[in-house]
Parts: sequence; C-alpha cells; structure tokens
Amino acid sequence: MSDGQQTHVIGWGIGLPTQILTNEKLESIVDTSSHWIQSRTGIVERRIASTDESTYSLGLTAAKQALHEAGMLASDVEMIVVATSTGEYGFPAVANQIQHGIEADHAAAFDINTACTGFVSAISVADSLIRSGQHNNVLVVGSETMSRIVDWTDRSTCVLFGDGAGALLLQGSRKQGGILSSVQWSDGSGAPYLYVENINHDVDRRNFIKMDGREVFKFAVRAMTEATIKSATLAGISIPEIDLVIPHQANIRIIEAAARALDMPLDRFVTNVDKYGNTSAASVPIALYEAIIDGRIQSGMKLILVAFGAGLSAGGVAIEWA
Ligand code: UT7
Repeated sequence: MSDGQQTHVIGWGIGLPTQILTNEKLESIVDTSSHWIQSRTGIVERRIASTDESTYSLGLTAAKQALHEAGMLASDVEMIVVATSTGEYGFPAVANQIQHGIEADHAAAFDINTACTGFVSAISVADSLIRSGQHNNVLVVGSETMSRIVDWTDRSTCVLFGDGAGALLLQGSRKQGGILSSVQWSDGSGAPYLYVENINHDVDRRNFIKMDGREVFKFAVRAMTEATIKSATLAGISIPEIDLVIPHQANIRIIEAAARALDMPLDRFVTNVDKYGNTSAASVPIALYEAIIDGRIQSGMKLILVAFGAGLSAGGVAIEWA
C-alpha cells in the first residue's frame, strides 16, 4: 500500500458518432411520436454509429483525447479499463483493442461489464489499483454502440438508446482531494427486468435488449438516491455540500425524481440525455466531459458520479475536483 496516494482525474475525452437520429426520424421507423419520446424521457435526438464506427473506434477517439488533454504519452499508461457491454468480439476485450490502437505498449487491459453502471464500476476498480500502489496511470473508458443491440421494431426500447464513448485518465499523487469514495452494489434478482441474451445470431431477436421499463424506472430512482447518499456519506460530504451530480443519463424523469428525493435542485445535476439518449456505460463520462468543457466544474468542487443499470447494478463515486 503506497501511503497517502490519492486518485486524480488528469485528462478527459469523448468519441461521438457524427450521425444524428432525431425523434422525428424515429416516427418513420416505429409507431411512436416525437412528443411521446420527449415528454416521457427528455430525449430529443441520439447519435448512431455508422458502419465504419464501432465501440472500439469511439473508445479510441475518447482515449486519444484524454491522453492529449493530460499531456501524457501512451507508453506511460499502465492499465486500461473499458466499461462496455457492446464490444465487437466476445474476446479479445475492447480494452485490448484500445491498448493496441493507442500503442500503450506497457499497459495491461481488461473490460468490465456492469451495463450502464460500468463506468462507475471501472472508476472504482481503477481507484483501488492506484491507491494500492499497483499502478499509477490508469486509462478508464466507457464505450458503447447500443444501436447494435436494440430491437428497431420495439418502440418501448429503441427510442431510448444511443452510441458514444467517454474516457478519463486517472493518476495517483499525494495531492489532496481527487476520488474520495466509491460504492457499488448488485441485485441479481432483478436480472429479468433488463437483459440481452448472448446468442450470436438475431434469428429470433434473442440478442436484443429486453426491458421492463417500469420496474427499471423504480429501481433507478431508488438506486440513484441511495448511491448518491452512500458515496457522499462515505466521503464525509453532506447532501447540501454536493456541488454537482453527474448521473447516468437514461431518462430525465429518473433524474428529476432522484433530485426530489435528495431535496436537491435540478440545476445541480448535469443532464444531456436530450442530445444523446442513453449511451449506457458512456453516459457518465460524456456528461462529465461536457460539464468540464462548459466550465461548470471548478477546483475544490465536490462531485458525485452515479449510475444504475442491468444486473441490476448501481454505484456512486465522490470526487473533490483538484
Ligand atoms: O440504463 C437503464 C436503462 N433503462 C431505463 O432506465 C429505463 C427506465 N424506464 C423508463 O425510462 C420508462 O419506464 C420508459 C421510458 C421506458 C417508459 O415510460 P413509462 O412512462 O414507464 O411508459 P409505460 O411503459 O408505462 O408505457 C405507457 C404507454 C404504453 O401504452 P398503453 O399500454 O398505456 O396503451 C406503451 O405502449 O406508452 C406506450 N409506449 C409508447 N408510445 C409511443 C411505450 N413506448 C412508446 C413509444 N412511443 N416509444
């Protein structure tokens, strides 16, 4: 154990497909209306990967930008953790593909799959690796092409998801602040509410997302509220002291309900679900990236990253931005 080592965010990046799919366009694909989608979810449009884009290529773009932002050479990265459930291959992991793509010749790499909770899980694991002294420079990526696993004939799910990637470069140092706490939990009894069968053909649509939206919604509000309270409490932060929550972007109504339950104003939650829909493990790092770029995150601020997803799973991370 290296004494006093804290994990700090030193670089950030995103990778987004250029193709935009609007609610209006979806009206010509399934029996839906732009009004229903926006009023029930807050989503206006989402990005969809083209045939020459992939979970790997979007993650690679995000990773390269995070390295550039940090001014770090790929050869200095020691570990790459990718959160995804939509890699192109059963194996190798997307993390291995990115390791080769950025030429991080000294890095080990692996994927984590806790669905939409993935980025929070990956941060938590990376933080443990850094604080234990095992690695100092860890690249964490969340990348997804949800469009490849949604059933485009099922209006109850296909309108919700989008594609994208986000990355953070984490580094250990003795500087104060950084990642203060992380919590994760799982409720495997909720597996039937959200799943994809791992079958390598789509003859009977088994490898498409199946979801009981109402059950997931109820879990989501509870999980977001609990994960925020638990990670903040563990970090010694009271709810009113939280400057900004960066939540998983699944549905604006879930975020609004969690804000009410926490008695926090909605303007302390970063939201961009209107532009990207639910990008699963990529949603938290994309939202964090945009908050940084927009100047909403300043040194000394106390942030909570919070997510929930299939599993069912949930988690939260408290960060003091340094
Ligand atoms: O990252 C985790 C992933 N998933 C989630 O976070 C999803 C959590 N759940 C939700 O966000 C919401 O439950 C949904 C957005 C999925 C659905 O919203 P809802 O308010 O719970 O609607 P509902 O499922 O209760 O359906 C209400 C009605 C139904 O019609 P009837 O039975 O009342 O006649 C649906 O058939 O809305 C209908 N409906 C639609 N109508 C137009 C469902 N999807 C659509 C659609 N367009 N796309």
